[in-house]
This record gives sequence, structure tokens and C-alpha cells, in this order.
Amino acid sequence: MDQNTTIDRIAQQSWLGEAADAIRPAVLEAFEAGGEAGREIKNFLHGTWLGHPLHPVITDIPIGAWTTAAVLDGLELLGEEKYAPGADAAVSVGLAGAMGAAVTGLTDWSGTTGVRSKIGLMHALLNVGATALYATSLVLRRRKATRGTAIGLSMLGYGVVSASAYLGGHLVYGKQVGVDHTATADTYPKEFVAVLPENELAENTMRRVEAGEVPVLLARKNGEIFAIAHTCSHLGGPLSEGRLLDDGSVQCPWHGSVFSLKDGSVQSGPATEPQPSFDVRVNAGQIEVRLHKPEGR
Ligand code: FES
Repeated sequence: MDQNTTIDRIAQQSWLGEAADAIRPAVLEAFEAGGEAGREIKNFLHGTWLGHPLHPVITDIPIGAWTTAAVLDGLELLGEEKYAPGADAAVSVGLAGAMGAAVTGLTDWSGTTGVRSKIGLMHALLNVGATALYATSLVLRRRKATRGTAIGLSMLGYGVVSASAYLGGHLVYGKQVGVDHTATADTYPKEFVAVLPENELAENTMRRVEAGEVPVLLARKNGEIFAIAHTCSHLGGPLSEGRLLDDGSVQCPWHGSVFSLKDGSVQSGPATEPQPSFDVRVNAGQIEVRLHKPEGR
């Protein structure tokens, strides 16, 4: 597969962008309609509680189960019919896992835009196609007379889900969806460095400053100064352009993730990784920060 040509072609499909722009608001509105429960469900599906996206964990179920089915089907085709019940069970397990993968994937996808959204939608469409092939295969497996067709549909489904997995991998490794965009902590200052004169940070405001080579968010709330990484861990949004909330947290301007200013922890997704936080002190009129080292490390 010529990866650039394939990805470029997907990126050029305007119908994918139009479909994404129609589906995304409906997904987000469905969660919003659920109020606080909807927010908690959305956070759960993102994997905020796990500190890691939940979707790739769940996708191992259908991929593993359907790989098992392909091996057992192959053995059956070689005359080992005793493996047929195992193959059928593996197809069923894969279908159950595909439901979980779909729900978590749709939730993560709702936080993407642009070419990421197009590739994600194509990834989803291929998965829907693969799931339909496996579901049809399962129905036919129960009718002995159509066993060959059933296995053929499963094999076809395996090819489709493999192509989809390629796109899913490109979203993570090529487009950095689901990776921690603050994972450069080695470059954050380990010793205190001056970043701003104290009198330039007014109460109830936020500022982007540079600590060495990396951007840091400074905020002053109720007289206290806080500092966390400026680049949102979700997809790199600029936190200083977000909202400083009354409860001492900051909301990212891009997809609405909320982080505690105190320790950078995720209060609400789609982010799943916390923001690195900084120790803050005022020295000779200058605000100084250094990377906070959690106890025990
Ligand atoms: S970049 Fe997506 S929530 Fe911040």
C-alpha cells in the first residue's frame, strides 16, 4: 500500500469532511443532552479515568478474536473440522468487542477535525463494513450448507478490518491522535527559572510564558499563582486562549478538556493525559517555575 497516496486521497475527499461536519455535532449534542451523566459517560469512553485512551484497549478484542477465527477457519479448510465451533465463538466475541470499539472510537473521533476527522471517518466506515461481513458470516455459519460462504465472508472482513487498522495506526503515529502532546517533560526546567515579572500577571488572568524552550501557562486565581504546561495534552491546543474557570481549572479552547491548575490533572476529557505541573515561587519580583516532581519519584 502506497501510504502517502492512500492518506492523501482520503484527505482530498470533500464528502468525508461534509459527512464528518454533519455527524460530529450530533455526537457532541447527544452527550451534552445527558447533562452531568453525559459528561461522565463521555469521559469514561475517552479513558480519562484510565490516563490513556480506552479505544485502543478495546480494539484488541475484535482484532484478536478475528485473528483467532482466521487461524481456526484455515485449519478447518485443511480438513480439521473440530476447530469450527472455536472459530464461530471467536467471530461472536469479535462482534461483541467491535461494539465497544465503535462506541469508544466514535467518542474520540468527535474531538477531531480536519484531515484527522476524515481519516477517522474512513476508519469507522471500514470497521462498519467489516462488522457487517462478520455478522453475516455468523448467521451463515449456523447453516451448515453455507459454511464455505461464511468463511469467505470472514476472510473478506479480516482484509477490511486490517485496512482499517492501518488507518487507525496512521491516526496515532502519523497524526498524533491519542498521544500525549506534553510528552516532552525532559525539556521542562528541573531548576527554578524566571518567566515573568510578578506585577505583569493580574488577578484572574492567564499568560503564556516561556520556561527555557517550552511554553508554560501561568494563571493567577484568588491571589495564588499556578503553572502547568501550556500545550494541551489532547491535541496541542493553546491553553492560554482557553477559559479560566472559577473552580481553579482551565478549559482548552479547542475541544473543551478541563485541567486542574493545581496539579494539571484531567477534570474533563477528551484529554486523557494530565498536564505537567510546575512549582511556583516569586523571587526578587520575578515569577519562577520548575517542573513539579511528584512525591516518591
Ligand atoms: S487540544 Fe483538544 S481539548 Fe485541548
